[in-house]
Amino acid sequence: MLSSAVNLVAALLALGTTANPLGNRDNSHDDSLFYITLEEHWISPAFSGPSLATLGPELTRQAAGPPAVIDEIGPIRLSNMTANHVRKQVISHPSTPRALEHPDLVACANDELAAAIACSPDRYAGFAFLPMAYPLQAAAELERCITQHGFVGALFDNHLINGTYYDGVVYRPFWAKAAALGVPIYLHPTWPNETAYLAEGGTYAPSDDGTSYPMSGGLLLGASAWGWHQDTGLHFLRLYAAGIFDEFPTLKIVLGHDGEMLPFMLDRTAVLLGPHNTKAKTSLLATWKRNVWVTTAGMFSLAPLAVVLRTTAVDRIMYSVDYPFSSNVRGHEFMTRLRESGMVTEREWRMVAYGNAQKLLGI
Ligand SMILES: *[C@@H]1O[C@H](CO)[C@@H](O)[C@H](O)[C@H]1NC(C)=O
Ligand SMILES: *[C@@H]1O[C@H](CO)[C@@H](O)[C@H](O)[C@H]1NC(C)=O
Ligand SMILES: *[C@@H]1O[C@H](CO)[C@@H](O)[C@H](O)[C@H]1NC(C)=O
Repeated sequence: MLSSAVNLVAALLALGTTANPLGNRDNSHDDSLFYITLEEHWISPAFSGPSLATLGPELTRQAAGPPAVIDEIGPIRLSNMTANHVRKQVISHPSTPRALEHPDLVACANDELAAAIACSPDRYAGFAFLPMAYPLQAAAELERCITQHGFVGALFDNHLINGTYYDGVVYRPFWAKAAALGVPIYLHPTWPNETAYLAEGGTYAPSDDGTSYPMSGGLLLGASAWGWHQDTGLHFLRLYAAGIFDEFPTLKIVLGHDGEMLPFMLDRTAVLLGPHNTKAKTSLLATWKRNVWVTTAGMFSLAPLAVVLRTTAVDRIMYSVDYPFSSNVRGHEFMTRLRESGMVTEREWRMVAYGNAQKLLGI
């Protein structure tokens, strides 16, 4: 293939001209080295206190994660960013599926995020959280957050707690609004419905009433260890199959975690799924190229990124961390390994580090 030959030449050139350019160089004072990260989380005070019970076990689990930092937009976060070259975080809510059913709480959380960003606009930007249980209100809240708060897109759980995805006809006005506003929608993984998936006989439950593996393992099978990633990938394919990307060809979708398993499966899925058996008029590969951006959030290995680089244009790949569930330190180590790997040129590395995000988000 011509393009892989070009890539190879570019990689060799990069290696040749900068032979081991970094070595153990201390980059801590290199101002031109910085990151913009896009899957960075915070839990609003609107979701604590009395709301916490309403919002259920999923939120409690998220809040119990990394102590003291998930509800903080202040000195701890800033010093962690600065120490690890993150110039700007785009902040959003983590997986809190029941909140999608509470438009008032969601609006309040967005207002609080806007106020926090206003204190350090050079260090933070915002993705709107949206009440996806109510598609029309979600569309209106998206517009409010973009036009009044200056948010740069939206990030929310990829399904409701009862398993509803956003490929149905009732969601068309929402996608129309996202396309009209021209802002990216980041589909974020979320917890599977416990009754459906984790109770006895469920997809992720042990077959023998908890003897073969503990329920905590089942929960992780259904969530961050596997299930919620494939589920988010599936959701993208459902949007494709429903013809959403032909109806709204300018729609911008962001997928985290190196593309939620899709890059690895893309060629096979594209052979099996296409205009012949879906509502899509465009091929899956062309849609991937036109409508999708991918981030590295939470994925700090070069092997899956190599697959992403083979399937996805380099101007669609963006570094992200998943703070505070993943570490800015590990993220920077990963980016340093990538820079030294010869897999991307220095120019491409900077596109991944910040340039692509600046272009997509207009920041
Ligand atoms: C899922 O929940 C939403 C929001 O409450 C509701 O509109 C929808 O009808 C529910 N779907 C099913 C299949 O229960
Ligand atoms: C989870 O799924 C089950 C089975 O489909 C459904 O009966 C239940 O209402 C769902 N739970 C929630 C919280 O929607
Ligand atoms: C915050 O900074 C400390 C010290 O640099 C580091 O050990 C920790 O992993 C960081 N936390 C996150 C969530 O990045």
